[in-house]
Amino acid sequence: MSKQWWKQSVVYQIYPRSFNDSNGDGIGDIPGIIEKLDYLQKLGVDVVWLSPVYESPNDDNGYDISDYRKIMDEFGTMEDWENMLAEMHKRGIKLVMDLVVNHSSDEHAWFVESRKSKDNPYRDYYIWREGKDGKEPNNWESAFSGSAWKYDEQTDEYFLHLFSQKQPDLNWENPTLREEVYDMMRFWFEKGIDGFRMDVVNFISKVPGLPDAPNPNGRKYAPGGDYYMNGPRIHEFLHEMHQEVMAKYDCMTVGEMPGVTPEEAILYTGEGRDEVNMVFQFEHMDVDSGPGGKWDVIPMDLVKLKEILTKWQVGLHGKGWNSLYWNNHDQPRIVSRLGNDSEYRVRSAKMLATILHMMQGTPYIYQGEEIGMTNVRFDSIEEYEDIETLNMFKEKREEGKSVEAIMETIYVKGRDNARTPMQWDATENGGFTSGKPWLKVNPNFSSINVVSALEDPNSVFYYYQTLIKLRKELEIIVEGDFEILEADHPSLYTYVRRFNGETLVVAANVSNEANEFVVPEAISLENGEVLLHNMEDAPSVERNMTLAPWEARVYYMK
Ligand code: NOJ
Repeated sequence: MSKQWWKQSVVYQIYPRSFNDSNGDGIGDIPGIIEKLDYLQKLGVDVVWLSPVYESPNDDNGYDISDYRKIMDEFGTMEDWENMLAEMHKRGIKLVMDLVVNHSSDEHAWFVESRKSKDNPYRDYYIWREGKDGKEPNNWESAFSGSAWKYDEQTDEYFLHLFSQKQPDLNWENPTLREEVYDMMRFWFEKGIDGFRMDVVNFISKVPGLPDAPNPNGRKYAPGGDYYMNGPRIHEFLHEMHQEVMAKYDCMTVGEMPGVTPEEAILYTGEGRDEVNMVFQFEHMDVDSGPGGKWDVIPMDLVKLKEILTKWQVGLHGKGWNSLYWNNHDQPRIVSRLGNDSEYRVRSAKMLATILHMMQGTPYIYQGEEIGMTNVRFDSIEEYEDIETLNMFKEKREEGKSVEAIMETIYVKGRDNARTPMQWDATENGGFTSGKPWLKVNPNFSSINVVSALEDPNSVFYYYQTLIKLRKELEIIVEGDFEILEADHPSLYTYVRRFNGETLVVAANVSNEANEFVVPEAISLENGEVLLHNMEDAPSVERNMTLAPWEARVYYMK
């Protein structure tokens, strides 16, 4: 497969609301991002993916956009944004913006028009249907609880919203709407951006007729699968978008695609398909979800996790391109989820980073991951802000579930775990704001923060810095193939990568107990070096090893 800059890049995701507040209003902003670009340059990342900064009533923190060509007042002005882009480029950092076009805000001018009358020119920009026997047009559920349809009195019809009621789905069957979207994308490319991350973009093609979805096991959240995920015209739409927009620019695109399989990902990302460069898949994020979905929390099964990630590594090698991530603004913090965020916080955060960054694909680091930020436990639901969490809480309470039981699931899975403000230093509010933060800071900011990470040569920060540097130095990390070792071991995560006669052996212990690992005889360790490790004392290259709790090592043979 061809070499591309985005295959060699490491991306850093900024969730602007929680990153850095420059004006004391308690909300992160664009000038605040500019202040921290030197920090990102020091980390060594190549690309920033910026979550939405467009005008929005913030029902879903900017993922409900009311004007795609304006910057949200709370975040600054277009001039600030242009300044930020220039400052990024000056430092050799590229900018990938968020593209949220499965839906808009209900306050977008298109929707304001659309709901006025059935014959309004914008009516068909959205998905309107008559009710069925006085009820919703079908049984689809919103990802944020309840029906995916909302009744609108004005025209006595329902509109579809797969997310909140303030996020009506756009109608991609309408060519005029598609052209509006492409035009808006070109607007941002002309301003000099380097790509788009595309929000739930495999939801844009719905099955014709919008039939009821089966709802197995009484599951509330209809799996939808064939109904709006990877729908019948999805490849056609993405290819058209590529021809109309991406083909004209040297850019990178990543499609967020729940419910995608490696086979489909090859269709989305394969060379010559001209759709997107890579996808965010979710399979590995669902390992700790039971049959009832996200809030049905079950223990993380490492064997299952390895099986999934191996399937993706092997499946896409030479045929498509992977994204690698443990974290984003929708996911709990990985060191709390899969590591040990107390006694072994630093060591386990480094171990998890090792597993991920030694695989094939483009790695994404979510703000705070590079200093090992953890999940949070706020005392009451009043301290939470996320619409998904709040809607779920209300629904589960109505169903009779106890407050304590619901709160436990929020502590494990809630999106606000990722959204607590970035912890910059040990001063009040972790140095995030001089005002009152929109969401409380994790109380552990006095010990976990950027200043202390930068002062400590053994911090998680410098480990990430090394991982990023290694990816640039060793082609095998970008290009090598992948073979899992000890696939059935419940605590070991071990694999080998090969490229042009070179070999990498990655050995990690994902548990609180020591574990033995033997490198198979077939793998030569001759002239091997320890490329990386997360212990105080460097290990040696050995075939039979005892891995301490949460230890990770990487051997390199050339
Ligand atoms: C996925 C985004 O990552 C999430 O934050 C958002 O709530 C939904 N899409 C809806 O836009």
